[in-house]
Amino acid sequence: MTRYKVGYIIGSLAKDSINRRLAMALVKLAPERLEFSEISFKDLPLYSYDYDDNYPEVARQFKQAIERSDAILFVTPEYNRSIPGALKNAIDWATRPYGSNSFTHKPSAVIGTSPGAIGTALAQEDLRAILNYCNSPQMTAPEAYIQFKPDLVTGNGDITVASTKEFLRTFMLEFDAFIERVLSVPPRES
Ligand code: FNR
Repeated sequence: MTRYKVGYIIGSLAKDSINRRLAMALVKLAPERLEFSEISFKDLPLYSYDYDDNYPEVARQFKQAIERSDAILFVTPEYNRSIPGALKNAIDWATRPYGSNSFTHKPSAVIGTSPGAIGTALAQEDLRAILNYCNSPQMTAPEAYIQFKPDLVTGNGDITVASTKEFLRTFMLEFDAFIERVLSVPPRES
């Protein structure tokens, strides 16, 4: 059985992030052959192309963590109807210096949770547009807009609502199948 390394990126820097709780649940619900590790961006400075000639070690490590992953799972909040600025900053770091975009051909999926009724839908739309530009093949279905309620995820990362739990299990099964599909087709030589 082929195993896949999935790096997950949580869009929030908050220590009690509800998206971190969702990520914990997703890891538990995923097929066993997926191996997860968090790719943190909390120590990245604000990006400027002035760094391109001398990329800081923290940014090199961030890029390497993406490149060593077979796939990337984004679990993001919505801030002011888009993705958090810190997440956009991290993506900018990963795509540079010019010609070394770490997301190229890297399969990805997007999910998020918010107390609001549309459950990060607009942030996800923006993130999808960014990932399109970054040449990351994305899982387009199922979409997952999770409205967060205080007791939805236990401290151990267990989902308390059976229908949501099954939906999230399906989401991760689909992601697993998507990763396999993408990685079984070699990219065209350019
Ligand atoms: C929010 N929140 C929010 N929620 C939403 O559904 N749509 C939005 O546009 C916003 N905008 C927004 C901006 C800022 C700056 C903050 C701090 C918050 C509320 C947000 O969903 C809530 O704080 C979640 O707890 C954020 O997820 P994390 O950071 O806890 O994972």
